[in-house]
Amino acid sequence: QSNQTSPPEYPSPWGEGLGDWADAYAQAKAFVSQLTLTEKVNLTTGVGWEGEKCVGNTGSIPRLAFKAMCLEDSPLGVRFKDFASAFPAGVTVAATWDRSLFYTRGYDMGAEHRESGVDIQLGPVVGPIGRAPEGGRNWEGFSPDPYLSGIAVGETVKGMQDAGIMACTKHYILNEQEHFRQPSDIPASSSNIDDRTMHELYLWPFADAVRAGTASIMCSYQQINNSYGCQNSYTLNYLLKNELGFQGFVMSDWSAQHSGVSSALAGLDQTMPGDQAFDSGNAFWGANLTIAVLNGTVPQWRLDDMAVRIMAAYYYVDRPGNQVPDAPNFSAWTQDTFGFSHFYASEDYTQVNYHVDVQQDHYVDIRNIAAKGTVLLKNTGGLPLTGQEKLTTVFGSDAAENGWGPNGCPDRGCDNGTLAMGWGSGTANFPYLITPLEAIKAEVRSNRGAFEDVIDDYAYTQASALARRVAQPGVGGACIVFANSDAGEGYIVYDYNEGDRNNLTLWHNADTMIQTVTEQCDNTIVVMHTVGPVVVDAWYDNPNVTAIVWAGIPGQESGNAITDILYGKVNPGGKSPFTWGASRGEYGTDVLYEPNAGSSAPQDNFQEGVFIDYRAFDRLGETPIFEFGFGLSYTTFEYSGLQVQANSVGQYMPTNGQTPAAPTYGTVSNRTADYVYPPGFDPVEAYIYPFLNNSNLRSASMDPQYAINYTFPADGYDSSPQPYLAAGSNVAPGGNAQLYDVMFTVSATITNTGDIVGDEVPQLYVSLGGPENPRVVLRGFDRLTIQPGASETFTAQITRRDLSNWDTYSQNWVISNAPKFVYVGSSSRNLPLSQRLNVDA
Ligand code: NOJ
Repeated sequence: QSNQTSPPEYPSPWGEGLGDWADAYAQAKAFVSQLTLTEKVNLTTGVGWEGEKCVGNTGSIPRLAFKAMCLEDSPLGVRFKDFASAFPAGVTVAATWDRSLFYTRGYDMGAEHRESGVDIQLGPVVGPIGRAPEGGRNWEGFSPDPYLSGIAVGETVKGMQDAGIMACTKHYILNEQEHFRQPSDIPASSSNIDDRTMHELYLWPFADAVRAGTASIMCSYQQINNSYGCQNSYTLNYLLKNELGFQGFVMSDWSAQHSGVSSALAGLDQTMPGDQAFDSGNAFWGANLTIAVLNGTVPQWRLDDMAVRIMAAYYYVDRPGNQVPDAPNFSAWTQDTFGFSHFYASEDYTQVNYHVDVQQDHYVDIRNIAAKGTVLLKNTGGLPLTGQEKLTTVFGSDAAENGWGPNGCPDRGCDNGTLAMGWGSGTANFPYLITPLEAIKAEVRSNRGAFEDVIDDYAYTQASALARRVAQPGVGGACIVFANSDAGEGYIVYDYNEGDRNNLTLWHNADTMIQTVTEQCDNTIVVMHTVGPVVVDAWYDNPNVTAIVWAGIPGQESGNAITDILYGKVNPGGKSPFTWGASRGEYGTDVLYEPNAGSSAPQDNFQEGVFIDYRAFDRLGETPIFEFGFGLSYTTFEYSGLQVQANSVGQYMPTNGQTPAAPTYGTVSNRTADYVYPPGFDPVEAYIYPFLNNSNLRSASMDPQYAINYTFPADGYDSSPQPYLAAGSNVAPGGNAQLYDVMFTVSATITNTGDIVGDEVPQLYVSLGGPENPRVVLRGFDRLTIQPGASETFTAQITRRDLSNWDTYSQNWVISNAPKFVYVGSSSRNLPLSQRLNVDA
């Protein structure tokens, strides 16, 4: 796979308004038809880093009173805004396995962005998917399983967009680590992959996002098969816009654009933050895109397509109907009420922050999601706590407040105090953070119990003495040890972790604290806030560890949520969205930490193919400590009565036919003088404009290599009708519509055999049967609340896509002849019900 190349795929598909995008396209075409060349360019190019109030800002169209669009992080809240909520991270909502909570969280976040005057929320994340557990940003996304990630991203996108803002599903694609994601003295790394793995694993959740109508997609920093993510014609033109039929627009990650004409022809639609190097005043697009259209290196239809895609996305979520006053009503760059609206240039001093409280009652959902996403990994009787414990003790800094305050470390780039968010751009400011320490102490005191803590992670003497007191005859109680493991985005290095984790052990020497406490206390409960799996091998089966809880990355209601679980106010029902192995080596994948190609791009070969996480453990015959999909409850469940009903669906037909020819909207005069700066125009410093500084294109470009022997792919200029792909669609986004035909409806009976109400997540797995396939793959789940002694019916639908493999030769999904089985159970390794599937392919 080294030195693998990415095939050229041109022309860039023009949006057609497929499916439920038709109305939005009609409005977009009407709008774009009125625009001049420079006005169109203004939609495609950001104004430059810190040029306006959001992390990304498009140009505006003053003539039509069209305001600049505000693009704001993050996937878990409104980054940099005060009086906004800090939601549980993607990995925690994934652990709920609850579609309605995926949607609710998306809707709540979307509403907060809308009320802040944001047009585009920069989330959700399905890249990284979590190929290597060390990957620094895995927690921003959902799960290394593509099916779970796909359902989660689809529901999140729908929720966000129903609230009236545009989602941006990111980072497309194979952005699986932080090391070498951007060029430095060497080019950015290349994630090298084969066609089948691309489709069956990494592209899968993006397909679900497209099918759910994601307004935008952010292309990623690193290279894919040695071609940069934002100028890769294969991933953008062929996979995303053609095969998946994506109707929205592709925006670059910040400074991920590395060319002007080439990125335009390869399918990029919007560049962020707009300038080449931050605040350089230079841009690949802006005036240079105006010039490229005038000199014919970018065809007008391609620019028109960019503008129509951007405006269609805007109408698709009804942005006109969702405006708020003073939008955006905050500045990403200062918390002061008054400041510069052009922050970098220090121009236009005015009110920039209105301190609008956008939180509504979202804290209720946040607490609920954090509790329902908490996973009970072990319980030999330590939980639930009764509230009658005579002495309750808490150990570890992860229980307590960061001494610098919850937002004391910029972009959460430290690991002080309880971990409720990873670090980087995928963060938000905490409006408050309820710590486990304060919530548990309040609970204990409501029952008049005694409470003490040792939060110094290295105070082993004091911890040992306190734990010893709990175990004294006549005392009794619980020892709750809090521990964490953090990660984040690579622009912040914390404790030598360059975003990606350096190892999978607990931080702050927590293994030693756990050992210290368990030596004295026979009722030790370990609670972990971690960004992903950690190695628990040293202590998980110690009999004095009577319970283990993974409390994920819970957001602002952390302490309340964990207290709900520990005291049985919420019966745990979360399931681990990843595998817990005994060592990092067992995962068979890892971050590439050292350059491996000299001064050339590091080559990151995804040679494990589709075998990541549980699929790797299954293939290698390794037994995880806690498997994917595993999680206990305070009650018990029994599975019975599997029923499989085959539905008759038509034969799978490859899509054929041709697109219309590329449309253009309005005419572009080739009088270059029409595009120079208007007379008397007063530019903001370092701001990116679409205007030329003189009417000579060569000198206006300020490019010493202007027109020197550049050849661009001839097919990139072909505006004639193009064939649809067999796996693509001419009716709706998401690929061939027949991929979503329901071939089987499966049901089973789940009985609550205990004596309290509880939630169970029955899971459906399929064995595709071929030697190249994982033992099983997840293909269905639901979260059911079941009364004690009662039964509920679990129902799941298996689609054609669910049973198919990607066939490289036919470039389509194919159901193989290999025998197929369906399994239903409570985790990837506890599958008591099974049956052969008689597939009539
Ligand atoms: C870079 C990050 O990769 C991306 O996720 C984020 O949205 C942008 N920076 C803007 O902050």
